[in-house]
Amino acid sequence: MGSGVTLAEPFFCDYFPEQARYMGNLVVIGSQWGDEGKGKIVDILAREADLIVRFQGGSNAGHTVVTKKGTFVFHLIPSGILSRGKQCVLGNGVVIDPGALIGELNQLAAQGIKVSRNFAISQRAHLIMPYHKAIDKAAEKAKGARRIGTTGKGIGPAYVDKMARIGIRMGDLLDPEGFREKVERNLVEINSFLRHVYGVRVFHADRICEEYLAYAQRLSPYMTDDSLLIHKAVESGRRVLFEGAQGTHLDVDLGTYPFVTSSNACAGGACTGGGVGPTKIDAVLGVTKAYTTRVGSGPFPTELSDDVGSGLQERGQEFGATTGRARRCGWLDAVLLRYAVRVNGCTSLAVTKLDVLDGAPELKIAVGYRHQGKLYREMPVDLHILKQCEPVYEVLPGWAGMTTGATSYKALPVEAKRYLRRIEDLTSCPIDIVSTGSHREHTIMLKNPMTQTRPRVKLSKVSA
Ligand code: GDP
Ligand code: IMO
Ligand code: MG
Repeated sequence: MGSGVTLAEPFFCDYFPEQARYMGNLVVIGSQWGDEGKGKIVDILAREADLIVRFQGGSNAGHTVVTKKGTFVFHLIPSGILSRGKQCVLGNGVVIDPGALIGELNQLAAQGIKVSRNFAISQRAHLIMPYHKAIDKAAEKAKGARRIGTTGKGIGPAYVDKMARIGIRMGDLLDPEGFREKVERNLVEINSFLRHVYGVRVFHADRICEEYLAYAQRLSPYMTDDSLLIHKAVESGRRVLFEGAQGTHLDVDLGTYPFVTSSNACAGGACTGGGVGPTKIDAVLGVTKAYTTRVGSGPFPTELSDDVGSGLQERGQEFGATTGRARRCGWLDAVLLRYAVRVNGCTSLAVTKLDVLDGAPELKIAVGYRHQGKLYREMPVDLHILKQCEPVYEVLPGWAGMTTGATSYKALPVEAKRYLRRIEDLTSCPIDIVSTGSHREHTIMLKNPMTQTRPRVKLSKVSA
């Protein structure tokens, strides 16, 4: 910051003119393979929001928020629930394991967080049934070496039933007779499949009905028409924050298929999964780790299987919040990020875990891939290329100083600023937030994407 100008001061836009428009309704998505720190970012931004909506995925997600009151891990409930006076919604695009949801509500109560009228569940959201979890686990086992490495939470099979139009929805719990009929009808085929194809135990309608109708007692007060609720909020000028789960490269359409989850984790999913039109979305924030991680199988060009990789895993505490599995670690991949900025229409980025890179002598960023003599600057569609390619790296100097816990851009070592600026350059997307620790306070808010209408300049315009 040789010019002595800090980013907290107002600027006139000279680089990202499109940033000058009004912003209110924001979609937060992961721009890598999940676990980018979306929970922490949503928790912070929720202070400026009125409604926080989860729009896809299910309890495969694990969103961590670290506060003075303790650590909270959310699987289904939006991370905004910790902010007082906010309405949190599970949208129609989410698949809900009601037992897991009740467990989460109980856990929150035990941690002193009251959930009542500030929580709503879409009647259209599909239920994860016990047989979905059984199919998920059996299918993974049957795949052997080709397994996806799912979380085993029944996500894929629940979305399969939704698309096959035999899914059972939250609203069905309100009609016990109709619910039983649907369960019985589904079990005819599903039990035969479980017994004959996978050779695993079958399910009984009576037991499922007993269990699920008990869940209905607890969850029915929260059920609502999510689309109408969100529409009314938008029409009355309230701010809606859409909380994505997983990440761009786990999106069933745009990710590294078939090593993906079964929902639309990209920003477009907020519209279908929250029942709102695209014209109601004002901005999209892509959350990205300062390096890359992935849980489960699938290609990962910048993966490091050496000491550098295990160093990132150790310093970043890279263990899954849902399954506890060790996350694979590697260098930042700007090819992945550029793609994420494109397919999500990101208006800005939040870079998390910068502190984990403290002390690294040098840092690498993949700027392209080489495969059979050909250079790829954009994400290849062909998974074989992604599996076999060699990343083309740009090497940047690391920093001797600390970024851990930094709360101002000014306080960052010059090399860290250079690293962030390079991310902006390579993605053509401005950074709004930098996270320097797991605690709420360890955050540099360059510009609040929920509220600030003032335009932003590119970091290089104001920094040494
Ligand atoms: P999410 O799924 O995207 O919400 O991310 P997870 O919660 O699964 O994983 C992110 C992990 O990194 C959590 O343990 C967070 O507490 C932690 N975390 C978030 N931001 C930072 C950061 O800036 N620095 C460090 N060291 N940890 C962070
Ligand atoms: P959050 O929201 C990281 C991965 C699984 C597996 C693949 C498919 O915390 O970022 P699934 O159970 O969804 O059928 O598994 O997707 N996966 C995640 N990886 N973070 C997540 O969520 C994930 N949710 C699913 O590891 O590779
Ligand atoms: Mg996670």
